[in-house]
Amino acid sequence: MNKFSLPRQSRTVDEITGSRRLRRMRRADWSRRLVQENHLTVDDLIWPLFLTDGENRREEIAAMPGVFRLSVDLAVKEAERAAKLGIPALATFPQVVFSLKDVAGSEILNPDNLINRATRAIKAAVPDIGIITDGALDPFTSHGHDGILRDGVIVNDETVEQVASAAVLQAAAGADIIAPSDMMDGRIGAIRDALDAAGYQDVAIMSYATKFASAFYGPYREAIGTQGLLRGDKKTYYIDHANSDEAIREAEQDLAEGADMLMVKPGLPYLDIIRRLKDEFQVPTFAYQVSGEYAMITAAAQNGWIDGDKAMMESLLAFKRAGCDGILTYFAPKVAELLKG
Ligand code: PBG
Repeated sequence: MNKFSLPRQSRTVDEITGSRRLRRMRRADWSRRLVQENHLTVDDLIWPLFLTDGENRREEIAAMPGVFRLSVDLAVKEAERAAKLGIPALATFPQVVFSLKDVAGSEILNPDNLINRATRAIKAAVPDIGIITDGALDPFTSHGHDGILRDGVIVNDETVEQVASAAVLQAAAGADIIAPSDMMDGRIGAIRDALDAAGYQDVAIMSYATKFASAFYGPYREAIGTQGLLRGDKKTYYIDHANSDEAIREAEQDLAEGADMLMVKPGLPYLDIIRRLKDEFQVPTFAYQVSGEYAMITAAAQNGWIDGDKAMMESLLAFKRAGCDGILTYFAPKVAELLKG
């Protein structure tokens, strides 16, 4: 026995813990189920879908095995499958052909652009599934930024005007929720005003209130084809991932401007933010398990390094535990099938 050894423990476990033994309820499957605090159901899922032009096109995204860019006709088929599985809502993201892109992202103001065509087609075939569309300009800009670029600056107020006009067109096409992911100041209030003025009082807004400047968006940029276009980074408009109080201020502002729901993005590295928002505001709160998170789990599983299904379910339940009401996840159909048994 040297001087670093602990003195020999002479008390019994019961003397130390009293009669408390937390393993008692973990002993059997039935008692674990009985005391389980959080549950994941199909009602928690929002499925992000990538859109592309053409017909009968289904292109796998290299960094997201199992995730495809779909032409509108096939997106409708997937929407039908989602509805059968009980998935409440879809979120669409377009890959726009380069010839339609410009510095201002003006194609977003085309009532017949890819997003709006998809919304109309899906709503016509599957009226009861929720459709969430994004008002951010990045799929439509020649530089891959979320706003209008002038003299090296993403100009806020002009971008907001354009995002708000785009939101009205998206609502006209049948979108149920507008979810602007651009992080311009004042966008929520401007979208709310524009929707109300156009008679779309019942179209809701899910605010990407706390969207962080993150490395986890990489595969998404490949999916919608902005990867090679983007110069610089998005740090002048997304939140610094070192900050947490600032995320609260963003959320507070967006709620004051009329947001119906909040979202945290990315997801798993930001569970602390989810918990803070839920404690602070008690409003419907969502997380976006982004492309890089999907890629990490899927790549490790493909290498046989983790059990992919278990890691997927664990990561999603973690969002529920942190306080989420729902999760945007590329795993949505897989999870829904697994939950169905
Ligand atoms: C941009 C946007 C991003 C994502 C959706 N819309 C981030 C970006 O490209 O900077 C990321 C989604 C994901 O990674 O799954 N408005």
